[in-house]
Amino acid sequence: MDTKQTENDSLKEIYKKISAVVPEIEWKVHAPLIEKINKLKKEKNAVILAHNYQTPEIYHGVADIAADSLALAVEASKTTANIIVLCGVHFMAETAKLMNPKKKVLIPDMQAGCSLASSITGEDVRMLKEKYPGVPVVSYVNTSADVKAETDICCTSANAVKVVESLGVDKVIFLPDHYLANYVQKNTKVKIISWQGTCIVHEKFTGKEVEDIRKENPDIKIIAHPECPPDVINASDFAGSTSSMVKYVKEKQPKKVLLVTECTMSDNVQVENPNVQFIKPCNLCPYMKKINLKKIYDCLKNESNEIKISHNIAAMARKSVERMTEIGR
Ligand code: 13P
Ligand code: SF4
Repeated sequence: MDTKQTENDSLKEIYKKISAVVPEIEWKVHAPLIEKINKLKKEKNAVILAHNYQTPEIYHGVADIAADSLALAVEASKTTANIIVLCGVHFMAETAKLMNPKKKVLIPDMQAGCSLASSITGEDVRMLKEKYPGVPVVSYVNTSADVKAETDICCTSANAVKVVESLGVDKVIFLPDHYLANYVQKNTKVKIISWQGTCIVHEKFTGKEVEDIRKENPDIKIIAHPECPPDVINASDFAGSTSSMVKYVKEKQPKKVLLVTECTMSDNVQVENPNVQFIKPCNLCPYMKKINLKKIYDCLKNESNEIKISHNIAAMARKSVERMTEIGR
């Protein structure tokens, strides 16, 4: 079979997979870019790491790995590719660079931020440490490298409780997500001192909204991200990181499910679980949605938007991320 034929077949295969969630008119725009990106990836020995909130044409069309933030950090440390294109938000790309400093790490849009990461600075953490001398700092990975540099150990929503308990202390400063801190506090005896950051996507969900959906769908399973407010988590059947939500649906195959999180993820998971019905109230992350195929192609072609972290900050920040990955899930 010639190369052109193989490429056409692989595009057809991708569209067959995502046709339930991507209209044909959109596919006509995506297909040529997917083909060009996949070709360029091979030519440049690049790998595309994508977060679970990326759109289906990215998640199923060009990503080599699609996962939660913990797995993206681990995959970044293991890759043998020369270039990592991180399709997600800025802190994820910075974390990839920390984990594998010799690689060129690119992000398709430098403006892909995060409300949690921008809620706190390194200076704020220094102030907290002065206020609570000797109390260790656990930072959510959704923070800048400056904040990670002031941190004892990072965590993600997949291992927050485990990380806090690993320290063997009776009190920790846990930042910046107030709701994740609340979730951790419910699951540990360690006293949690929290910051007031929130995720602009997850804070919008309400317990009432979730309860109403359950009333209308008595047979539904409701799974929430721990960045949600406590009344939402209380009204849910399970709470966990984006990858543990994916795993829950894959293993339990509920008849009907509500993923209380960024809504693009439901499309991605639906593709892989055609027998599950997804109820989708839609809250989009405007930062995640800054990434698209055209920007991926341009940044890989021009090797632009490279992540740079100053040597001193990187050395300190790397330790807190590595301590987290040693603990695992
Ligand atoms: P996960 O680590 O669960 O993928 O979450 C990252 C995130 O930004 C959720 O809003
Ligand atoms: Fe940040 Fe929330 Fe977007 Fe995740 S969904 S990247 S926490 S703003």
